[in-house]
Amino acid sequence: MPQPVQTAFPTAILNDGREMPQFGFGTYCIANDQAEEAVAQAIARGYRLVDTAAIYENEEGVSKGVGSRHDIFLTTKIWNDRQGYDEAKAAFREALARMGRDEVDLALIHWPCPDKGLFVDTWRALIDLREDGRVKSIGVSNFMPEHITRLIDETGVTPAVNQIQVHPMWQQREVRAFNRDHGIVTQSWSPLGSGQLMKHRVLNEIAEELDAPVASVILRWHLQHGLAPIPKTSTPERMTSNLDAINVVLNRDHMARIDALDHPQGRLFADPYTFGND
Ligand SMILES: NC(=O)c1ccc[n+]([C@@H]2O[C@H](COP(=O)([O-])OP(=O)(O)OC[C@H]3O[C@@H](n4cnc5c(N)ncnc54)[C@H](OP(=O)(O)O)[C@@H]3O)[C@@H](O)[C@H]2O)c1
Repeated sequence: MPQPVQTAFPTAILNDGREMPQFGFGTYCIANDQAEEAVAQAIARGYRLVDTAAIYENEEGVSKGVGSRHDIFLTTKIWNDRQGYDEAKAAFREALARMGRDEVDLALIHWPCPDKGLFVDTWRALIDLREDGRVKSIGVSNFMPEHITRLIDETGVTPAVNQIQVHPMWQQREVRAFNRDHGIVTQSWSPLGSGQLMKHRVLNEIAEELDAPVASVILRWHLQHGLAPIPKTSTPERMTSNLDAINVVLNRDHMARIDALDHPQGRLFADPYTFGND
């Protein structure tokens, strides 16, 4: 059996009082029939948070990989075509059935899809699902400050987490600052830039100076900014080396050099204002 990374696991305290591991395992693009093994491997190596979504079509395999362990924080998300109060509730119950669970730790609205005009109703469904004990914490993903402001103004309930695309080339400082000011934990998706940052010159120079893998340097940058990265890998050795970011230390100069990599065209995927509106 692989040895778990031996270190104090960093955690974030959510605005509902619960504790969430600050480092997690992403499962996008891991097929359902491979997810059980991948998640079991990740947990054996020390991961304590696993991220899935209805749209990944692997919730069943992911849930099997988590098994009966109660110390693993499990997240899933409601997809864009199931927004609205009744739809979201039904979609979430279907997700629980697929996972064979009575509850999960965190449910997120996957995208705001603002033109649909349904994200506040979807949020009300999550609030009620939490009341019913079906989910312990609730949050959003890809929400911009104006979307979150509407949730707070219209329901009085602030999301615990906003999971957004963050990596050195797309740092989203304004959204992160808004989240922080509202007590919302920023979780970083595509924290490695979907693997595309691995050859970046500056990141490789820092990795050489520290004698650490490039991925660890990038993931450590997230942790030192108080972000909660959820890197994905299907490679067991990378599961271990990525988690080792917990033990790397970047100094002020390293952090400043990575901070300087933010790029106006650095976004890798969709625009939260327009994605999923159709
Ligand atoms: N909320 C949202 O809208 C949203 C959107 C996208 C993603 N997510 C979540 O965020 C998670 C992470 O994002 P992501 O999967 O897009 O990208 P990522 O974690 O930034 O990068 C994953 C890619 O990097 C490679 N990789 C991982 N570790 C590596 C290492 N040490 N050395 C070299 N290559 C490495 C992986 O390849 P191998 O697998 O071959 O190692 C994979 O191709 C997803 O899995 C998902 O859970 C959420």
